[in-house]
Amino acid sequence: MNRTPVVIAWTVAATCVALVLCAYVFVVAGFMPANADAKPGKIERWAAKRSLRVAIARETKTMHGPATSTDSVMTMGVRLYKANCAVCHGASDAKRSSVADGLYVEPPQFAKDDVTDDPIEMTYWKITHGIRFTGMPSYSKSLTDDQRWAIAAFLRHQDSLPPTALAAWKTMPSAADTASR
Ligand code: HEC
Repeated sequence: MNRTPVVIAWTVAATCVALVLCAYVFVVAGFMPANADAKPGKIERWAAKRSLRVAIARETKTMHGPATSTDSVMTMGVRLYKANCAVCHGASDAKRSSVADGLYVEPPQFAKDDVTDDPIEMTYWKITHGIRFTGMPSYSKSLTDDQRWAIAAFLRHQDSLPPTALAAWKTMPSAADTASR
């Protein structure tokens, strides 16, 4: 009788069990990085970025944001941004807060590194669901749908804001001051 298939099956099974055991020991012995003051490894970054890109592409395919946004909607977006986001993403002076400085994945300071090129649906998705492994929170529980679209509209048009929204953005207090007070 040819025993080769049986030997192969046992070898594959034993290798799988050994890998699972190694992974378990890695975690329970405290080797899995649990600190927030080191840069994440290459594999972690690749896996997080890749799955985020694919998940957003899939889930926003049939989503349609508002075709136009008014000054008052974007002004509301700026106000909500001030209360919920500026602590990490900064005000119009792009000065980082102590919270932003302590995150191991750097939150972009939107005053210099904006998302106006991203589709509004993508930004809405990120605000709604957050971004795993990064510190970017989900706002699906704390903000309504309209509020999340309003912030997304502000960020989408950040380089061409209408007058009232622009004034609100330009006069927003620095995040650096707020965090150290
Ligand atoms: C506690 C800090 C924190 C808060 C508060 C926060 N974010 Fe973020 N955000 C992050 C981090 C960190 C990233 C970077 C994630 C990455 O690189 O994948 C991020 C990424 C993003 C991105 C993607 C940027 C890009 O260049 O692709 C958007 C859009 C965004 N945040 C919007 C918001 C909005 C809007 C709010 C408020 C409703 C908010 N964030 C609140 C930490 C925060």
